[in-house]
Amino acid sequence: VIKMTDLDLAGKRVLIREDLNVPINEGKVTSDARLRAALPTIKLALDAGAKVMVMSHLGRPTEGEFNQEFSLQPVVNYLTEALSAPVKLVSNYLDGVEVGAGELAVFENVRFNIGEKKNDDALAKQLAALCDVFVMDAFGTAHRAQASTHGVAKFAPVACAGPLLTAELDALGKALDNPARPLVAIVGGSKVSTKLTVLDSLSKIADTLVVGGGISNTFVASAGNEVGNSLYEKDLIPEAQRLCQETQVIFADDVTVTTDGFSDWKHDSKTAIKALSEVSAEDDIIDYGPQTAEKVAEIIKAAGTILWNGPVGVFEIDAFAKGTEVISHAIAESPAFSIAGGGDTLAAVDKYDIADKVSYISTGGGAFLEFLEGKKLPAVEILEQRAK
Ligand code: 3PG
Repeated sequence: VIKMTDLDLAGKRVLIREDLNVPINEGKVTSDARLRAALPTIKLALDAGAKVMVMSHLGRPTEGEFNQEFSLQPVVNYLTEALSAPVKLVSNYLDGVEVGAGELAVFENVRFNIGEKKNDDALAKQLAALCDVFVMDAFGTAHRAQASTHGVAKFAPVACAGPLLTAELDALGKALDNPARPLVAIVGGSKVSTKLTVLDSLSKIADTLVVGGGISNTFVASAGNEVGNSLYEKDLIPEAQRLCQETQVIFADDVTVTTDGFSDWKHDSKTAIKALSEVSAEDDIIDYGPQTAEKVAEIIKAAGTILWNGPVGVFEIDAFAKGTEVISHAIAESPAFSIAGGGDTLAAVDKYDIADKVSYISTGGGAFLEFLEGKKLPAVEILEQRAK
């Protein structure tokens, strides 16, 4: 692909697609990880003397209508402060935008436009007509073939990859294509069903696949153990057994349980640590036990490459968080090349304050998972085609 950093942007109209889809509460950005990741690209274009336009989606609004709840205004407020420069939010941009060299305009939520999600050619051409150079930098949205990610790249005079997108692809490529071994993949989360393709593709490349959370419970059950009241998927037991034949799979062999009902879960909920043989019909497995956490920590410390997606327990609740905490610290201490990605995973990275110690933190949620599944990201594929 063509790289933004190889182009002369001075005086050019540069339209950058970022993923500024961040959580907002009462008009304030509550997690700025994606904004911090996008800022260097924006600064680079501004410093190069480009006329900079940035576009993004936010959430999943109904198309064809403005909705304050999904406005990018809080993001613009954040950028104004971060850049110490005026940033204007433009609502009616499709017919043309006035922006000076070294200035920044942010387009209002692209998902307000009719045709964005179905990748309408007419809309994509309108976006393309606004720029001399289109920069795709939104790794987090690169798995979506939409007008602002894919269509615009078809029609823009020049379409290139921004530094954030390039960095994401390089880091993930390093972990997947020719990883330092052993490659340890840690996949947590509640359900095997939503991560089956990821587990499948990782089972083929990882030396050790560590599973946690509800996913681990299905593996625990697949080995013939009682899981009591725990979240697990009976139908997927054969899949769990099949994965165990593909590679070494580590799941809980001691567990943290509670008998509190879901609605009573609290930071000081009562828990017990049990061997698998001791789990009773009333128990709900909500985390690894200490032995499993320690075993996984040792595996992590001996890894060459670590890929992490998903917590191994209900870490939002302190009483059920120990496993995820131990693993987070083990990743932080491991000399391995480590990558963490996915929304819940980043919340754990924040909670245990290990962001500086993970080699690469992906801004992708769905895009990160699709990359791990070995899927081609459509917004990257179009850049490759344009480069030919
Ligand atoms: C994400 O948060 O994963 C991306 O911003 C994509 O959002 P979407 O799933 O609404 O397309």
